[in-house]
Amino acid sequence: MLSISATKCLVRIFVFVLLACLSSNCQPTQESQKEYVSVKRSDFPDNLLFGGSTAAVQIEGSTKFRGKGPSVWDQFIREFPEKKTDNSNLEVAADSYNRYKEDVSILKDLGVNAYRFSIPWTRILADGTLGGGINQEGINHYNSFIDDLIKNGIDPYVTILHFDSPEALESKYGGFLNHSIVNDFKDYAEICFKTFGDRVKNWITMNEPLIMAKMGYAMGEYQATQGGQIGIALNSHYYEPYSNTSLDKEAAKRGMDFELGWFMEPLMHGEYPESMRRLVKDRLPVFTLEQNELVKGSFDFIGVNYYTSRYAKNIPSTPNAASASYLVDSNVKCHS
Ligand SMILES: *[C@@H]1O[C@H](CO)[C@@H](O)[C@H](O)[C@H]1NC(C)=O
Ligand SMILES: *[C@@H]1O[C@H](CO)[C@@H](O)[C@H](O)[C@H]1NC(C)=O
Repeated sequence: MLSISATKCLVRIFVFVLLACLSSNCQPTQESQKEYVSVKRSDFPDNLLFGGSTAAVQIEGSTKFRGKGPSVWDQFIREFPEKKTDNSNLEVAADSYNRYKEDVSILKDLGVNAYRFSIPWTRILADGTLGGGINQEGINHYNSFIDDLIKNGIDPYVTILHFDSPEALESKYGGFLNHSIVNDFKDYAEICFKTFGDRVKNWITMNEPLIMAKMGYAMGEYQATQGGQIGIALNSHYYEPYSNTSLDKEAAKRGMDFELGWFMEPLMHGEYPESMRRLVKDRLPVFTLEQNELVKGSFDFIGVNYYTSRYAKNIPSTPNAASASYLVDSNVKCHS
């Protein structure tokens, strides 16, 4: 785990605002009532960033070329071809790996001043480990890309891991189910800081660990010299009680605990939320004293990928160890 000095407990929340949502509060309105609100950049605080954001798998293509090793996404597509209902292909995607200069000029035309993108672990370390060798071609690519962004006045925000962990580590020891991943991830993250940290000042260690854990499996000397900010991008819904009963109010709190609290509580207090410890019981790992100290305060900012709100309704617990799962532990039923 990366140890990051945590003296500043100021939480900087950055939000990438969807420009399209700025007018009319996103509500469909009748033609006759349509009202256009003119919004200018100067209506927003000076330090609000307008940016674009992608994950490498969505846009890069060239998944099998230039020294890149397979990620769990490549493996998934190979094993479950029927899941690609639209016949889309990771191997080409938006061909951004080859056409990144065009993409930078499109970003410039859009007028953004920040761009968040991810680096695939296996483009830097093909088999996920330092022992397997560093892929210089990958390093050269991100050096040129980062330089090009900066030359065009766009600040790079780099996600170190965005769902595409190395297939080799998955088959070697089960990926994130095994503690060995901590040292391999540390090696990879260190190469990123060492190589790109002179120009990249905003780092996101992981995108949505909730989704990685839920859908995928159901830290600085550099900072002292480079002055970068290191944070994490969490995702959560906001849960509103379905009714005003105390049961539904508690369900709404548990809904938040099981999505945001799962990661925020350790980051703030070094422990999982009380409701998770109570309901998940011995299937929830316990932090050692050392891990508790390491994780507590280990962030400079928290990114929130906010999608929508939901209503939370209490469902009575049915103690049945055989069917125990993260998906039912919270005793919350969601309503849109
Ligand atoms: C983790 O992986 C190592 C090999 O790297 C293996 O020896 C160990 O048994 C694994 N632990 C678990 C809990 O699977
Ligand atoms: C809950 O109570 C508040 C305040 O009395 C009220 O505004 C809200 O509509 C109530 N919500 C429900 C779902 O009944």
